[in-house]
Amino acid sequence: MNPIHLAPSILAADFTRLGDQVQEACSAGVTYIHIDVMDGRFVPPISFGALVVEALRPIADRYHALLDVHLMVVEPDHLLPEFARAGADILTVHVESCPHLHRTVQMIRELGVRPGVTLNPATPLVALEDILPEVDLVLIMSVNPGFGGQSYIPASTRKIERLRHMLDAIGSSADLEVDGGVKLHNVGEIVAAGANVIVAGSAVFGGARPVPENVAAFHDVFKVQSLAP
Ligand code: DX5
Ligand code: ZN
Repeated sequence: MNPIHLAPSILAADFTRLGDQVQEACSAGVTYIHIDVMDGRFVPPISFGALVVEALRPIADRYHALLDVHLMVVEPDHLLPEFARAGADILTVHVESCPHLHRTVQMIRELGVRPGVTLNPATPLVALEDILPEVDLVLIMSVNPGFGGQSYIPASTRKIERLRHMLDAIGSSADLEVDGGVKLHNVGEIVAAGANVIVAGSAVFGGARPVPENVAAFHDVFKVQSLAP
């Protein structure tokens, strides 16, 4: 199985000190930084764009971390070159927003970026079947996208298990990422179901505890899980 990674979502960070917060997470050992791009159309809010990716690139380089960009936008094709130039390592698109998903995935790879695909909670896994061999990451949305701080949809765990079987059946080593409502109390079951990249926004950047303590608490759970039979 792939190593387990925490991918803190900067959506929940304090934007007045974004660089410092990302640096705190990286120096606590984080290797994926999750960047939620929202266009006000695919999802209601507008968040941030390629300029933020570009600004975080030097910090990620210093810590050998990956910039994991989640595009919650309609028809993302025209934005892909800009995000590649800005320094995205992973570009993940929604199956619901890409009428020519295979071409979009090819474009991402041709830009030298790892392609990822994701689906909303109501979209069945069968929508991924034909694209699975082409991607480096599959993201299961465990909330309806658009907002941080929502509750994990319990049916997501079964979906993760089924996707894990689908990936194993084709011998894929793609990352299986989970995004939305992940906390210390449910991350164990999510990893046990077969996820290996764990997005957490409010559980890392929200609340009273310092970011490095939150990161360490997740890493402790991962350690226990990877020792489990
Ligand atoms: C939701 C975003 C998530 C969000 C997760 O649309 O894709 O990445 O930031 O936030 P939490 O971990 O607070 O649910
Ligand atoms: Zn996300």
